[in-house]
Amino acid sequence: MTMKFLSKVVMITVFGAVLLSIILRETFDAGSLRGTRVLVTGASAGIGEQMAYHFARYGAQIVITARRESALRQVAETCAGLGAPRAFYVPGDMANHSDPARVARFAVDKLGGLDYLVLNHVGSSAYAMWDGGVEHTRWLLQVNFLSYMQMTTAALPALKQSGGAVVVVSSMLGKMCTPFVAPYSATKFAVNGFFGTLRHELAMQRTNVSLTICTLGLIDTESAMEKVRGHISMTAYPATEAALQIIKAGATRQRDMFYPWYTFYATLFRDWFPYYSDTVIRNSFVYEP
Ligand SMILES: NC(=O)c1ccc[n+]([C@@H]2O[C@H](COP(=O)([O-])OP(=O)(O)OC[C@H]3O[C@@H](n4cnc5c(N)ncnc54)[C@H](OP(=O)(O)O)[C@@H]3O)[C@@H](O)[C@H]2O)c1
Repeated sequence: MTMKFLSKVVMITVFGAVLLSIILRETFDAGSLRGTRVLVTGASAGIGEQMAYHFARYGAQIVITARRESALRQVAETCAGLGAPRAFYVPGDMANHSDPARVARFAVDKLGGLDYLVLNHVGSSAYAMWDGGVEHTRWLLQVNFLSYMQMTTAALPALKQSGGAVVVVSSMLGKMCTPFVAPYSATKFAVNGFFGTLRHELAMQRTNVSLTICTLGLIDTESAMEKVRGHISMTAYPATEAALQIIKAGATRQRDMFYPWYTFYATLFRDWFPYYSDTVIRNSFVYEP
């Protein structure tokens, strides 16, 4: 009786949440991106590269950044071919303390302002049990978190002027904990904490800057596939679709975006059934001590 009642409540709540999100969701107008000024970080590969191509097809003017100049040049050339009226690239290492602000300033100068700041880059981190690597975690915090903060600080005046958007690419691992990713997960929790607070403050200051936090599950980029192979068997969703969903969420000024669908329910499950959530997580991983 109690279980039946509980499952009914869960079903009605989930159904209600889905319905509400469908009703309240603004529809995406592809034309709204034409001519907009966009900075995408981590755009030499993976989801960032795919975002650059989508923005280019929609006619946005873009600046892309990452460390590898030759890869960036190729992506920028492809963007120009796909329809971006202007496509610039600027190499930068987000582990370097002065590069985040320098890159943001480059984009604002080249484009004459900024409408979208898309923070997406991620430093490489082993998929392994915590081994006490404090220095690595310090470095990763600079790349995955502090540089996001530095770029946002540098870009905010331009975004306030344009009524623009900050789009932050985060992860389910910034909301729930799984094995083998302690440093990465710590950086993503930091990202969610900082940008969640900033979103409140931007609204309280009545700025017209929107802030979208994107929660992604496993996406089929080369770097992610290489890491999880042999540790977990789970469907990886396409990077090009993840990129499109991120752009749509930013353009429609959504508060949050979840892709693929299960990431939203996984975070609910974590809070409602913590014990079962932990058991499912631990049983999903292969580990032989
Ligand atoms: N793929 C997934 O399963 C997954 C799941 C959840 C969340 N996400 C999030 O989605 C975003 C993109 O992930 P992805 O899988 O597309 O990553 P990726 O394929 O590994 O690409 C990472 C990008 O960041 C750049 N980068 C790495 N270190 C950098 C540094 N020190 N300074 C500047 N740029 C640097 C890389 O270019 P260079 O090497 O040229 O610098 C590359 O362009 C990340 O924020 C990630 O946390 C991904």
